Amino acid sequence: MTKRWIRASVAALTLLVSPEFLHAQENGAAVTDGENSKVQPIAFPHTIHAGQDQIDCQYCHFSAERSVDAGIPPVATCWGCHQLILGTDERQQAEIQNVRGYWERQEPIPWVRIYKVSDHVHFPHLRHVAAEVDCATCHGEVQEMTVIEEVNQPLSMGWCVSCHMERDVSRDCAVCHY
Ligand code: HEC
Ligand code: HEC
Ligand code: HEC
Ligand code: HEC
Ligand code: HEC
Repeated sequence: MTKRWIRASVAALTLLVSPEFLHAQENGAAVTDGENSKVQPIAFPHTIHAGQDQIDCQYCHFSAERSVDAGIPPVATCWGCHQLILGTDERQQAEIQNVRGYWERQEPIPWVRIYKVSDHVHFPHLRHVAAEVDCATCHGEVQEMTVIEEVNQPLSMGWCVSCHMERDVSRDCAVCHY
């Protein structure tokens, strides 16, 4: 199955790794930089948590160093702090009451996913964290974002491969494709 998929893709090979293709991909990504039209169920500001309060990224995205997915923290992680931190102004208190609602109903918060590659692509966070590629290299300065901005989107093959070329990492099709 995997072999057949790769064979079918070889025709696209020359185009995909050509400098023109890589360049076109970079231009494409620039158009969407800084935009994010997705509305989250809770207005969660990275500026306050990762910026002002300097909570480490991996305190919340704790599976990034040991798994393929960085993971979004469960409500229990939020509630660990927010049972005591109830917010200062009315707007904050209302948002934090919403967090309490999910906690009491034991319901996961239905966060809308932003960064996502197709199912045939394999992206292991742990390998990149182990190689000390900063979160910011791929996701931008998240601690300065009230709402997550989409950086390097859409996630293209040209983007992955050009960094792998710079850092002399494998470009074998089967490394990234199932
Ligand atoms: C207090 C917990 C917390 C901390 C600390 C935190 N995050 Fe997050 N992060 C979240 C939550 C909750 C979401 C989902 C809501 C959203 O997209 O804003 C999220 C979403 C994200 C996303 C988008 C995920 C997607 O759907 O594709 C990225 C990227 C991200 N965080 C990176 C970071 C980085 C980098 C840091 C450190 C600078 C960081 N986060 C610190 C809780 C946290
Ligand atoms: C390590 C402690 C900690 C954790 C974990 C944490 N928060 Fe917070 N959160 C804070 C602090 C501190 C504030 C600022 C409160 C203030 O200014 O009164 C805050 C503020 C907020 C606010 C209001 C911000 C605003 O001004 O709009 C929301 C909403 C919020 N948090 C949601 C969450 C959610 C959802 C999670 C879990 C994904 C989470 N928090 C995890 C400490 C935490
Ligand atoms: C080399 C680029 C790169 C680096 C470095 C990186 N990410 Fe990601 N991140 C991605 C890609 C690509 C995706 C989409 C992966 C997918 O769809 O399987 C993603 C997805 C995510 C998501 C969405 C949910 C999930 O479970 O995957 C979060 C949250 C996230 N990254 C946080 C982080 C944090 C925090 C760090 C630093 C510890 C980090 N990322 C480092 C490229 C990167
Ligand atoms: C900013 C640079 C950078 C970007 C962007 C990047 N990578 Fe990587 N990638 C690395 C580094 C560095 C390693 C670690 C190599 C090692 O462990 O020696 C790595 C390793 C990997 C591995 C494991 C390779 C192996 O030999 O087993 C896979 C799979 C991978 N990356 C997929 C991706 C995919 C898919 C994307 C795009 C969605 C991507 N990477 C984007 C730098 C990057
Ligand atoms: C470093 C990771 C990486 C390597 C190596 C890689 N690819 Fe890709 N490839 C990707 C990503 C990421 C995408 C875009 C997926 C998406 O749209 O979410 C992609 C997309 C594709 C597509 C387009 C499919 C579509 O969704 O339209 C083809 C075809 C393809 N790759 C073939 C190859 C072939 C053949 C090789 C070997 C020469 C290869 N890839 C090597 C990461 C990689």
